[in-house]
Amino acid sequence: MISGIISGGLNGAPSIPGDKSISHRSIIIPSIADGECEIENILNSDDVNKTIDAFKLMGVKIEKKNNIIRIYGKGLNSLKKPSNEIYLGNSGTSARLLLGLLSWQKFSSKLIGDNSLSSRPMKRITIPLERMGAKFESKNGSLPININGVDLKATDIDIKIPSAQIKSGLLLAALNTEGISKITENSITRDHTEIMLDSFGAHIEIKNESNKKIIHIEGKKELKPNNIIVPSDLSSSAFFIVAALINKNSLIKLENINNNPTRNGILKALEKMGAKIIYKNHRTLNKEPICDIEIKSSELNGCHLDESFAELMIDEYPILSVAASFANSPSVFKGLKELRVKESDRLELIHKNLVNCGVECKIEEDNLFINPKKNYTIKHSEIITNYDHRIAMSFAIMGSKIGPLNIRDADSINTSFPSFINEFNKIGGNIS
Ligand code: S3P
Repeated sequence: MISGIISGGLNGAPSIPGDKSISHRSIIIPSIADGECEIENILNSDDVNKTIDAFKLMGVKIEKKNNIIRIYGKGLNSLKKPSNEIYLGNSGTSARLLLGLLSWQKFSSKLIGDNSLSSRPMKRITIPLERMGAKFESKNGSLPININGVDLKATDIDIKIPSAQIKSGLLLAALNTEGISKITENSITRDHTEIMLDSFGAHIEIKNESNKKIIHIEGKKELKPNNIIVPSDLSSSAFFIVAALINKNSLIKLENINNNPTRNGILKALEKMGAKIIYKNHRTLNKEPICDIEIKSSELNGCHLDESFAELMIDEYPILSVAASFANSPSVFKGLKELRVKESDRLELIHKNLVNCGVECKIEEDNLFINPKKNYTIKHSEIITNYDHRIAMSFAIMGSKIGPLNIRDADSINTSFPSFINEFNKIGGNIS
């Protein structure tokens, strides 16, 4: 994919697809609910389709019609032994959440993934699940993993790593235990699973204590069916938001964007940098806060973000780093350890590719320092993505300012945003 400089600004109202995190949960939870659910605006992307395929393989009837899918849930204990290994492609969310759900099924199963997923750490979820009694077999703590379904016991677990995937895997595991599990998060991460389980009638109780969250969840309770409308994805919007901010004469409007406070660190960070963002029509969709957003080209300042920001915007550091490269002053982003274990080592790839674009930046421990300049001379126009969708899209936006950049393995974009190129070109982008 080649991303070239754009001639005018970016103008219009691109259509942002459904939220990836909420889409995965909108398949998993209805698949074990006691009745039929209709899901509107689910993200049609490689990752989410892997979750759909997994549940079809376990006997769940799922019909797709245009922008709506219908899931015929048959209750907590209704999944069937899959006739084959479950292939999850690139999807870390599917893997961590399914490890929790499959650990208490009446059958054994095996999860496999692509090269990237097979190198990602799974012990962070299998170890706490083993404390609940789960039984796994794997060579080195990553996929492929065999899961021997067993009865789990309600357990108190303190989660040390900030990760919504770990929390969600544990919540799904706790759904079929006798008694109440207590799950403590020591930092706040996206709460889509808690919100959805609550709206499906799960016996779940949440207490926030300063920066801690304590969740009590009682197992063996059937989930009531519910219809869901998936809001548009803030993480996908972030590429367009930054593109409009850094390119002069831009004004774009985005509708129905998920603005969940456990997830919207990117908006807070950009506002800190001086971004002109106008929020309209605040409302809720299935208990998820959403709004419409207008973004104008803005003069950005650098900013210092401490580690507490990382939990609220972990997926947005690649695109925030692009924004910081066009600010008036340096930026420091701290506590980015978790960026190293995403679809790629994102911290390394942000650094390497920014340096290739001519940006002065360095990594010290897990902190990223960016020292922007007025003009850039590209050193190497080839962007290495290691098949990571967010790296590819972030550097496509970089290309709109300093291009042309040749972005390798860009079909990874289908993981989360298959219509990215069309939507970007529709508002004035120059990607071929
Ligand atoms: C996700 C949680 C985050 C995020 C990922 C989606 C989720 O991962 O990076 O893209 O849907 O729960 P971690 O839980 O590993 O932080």
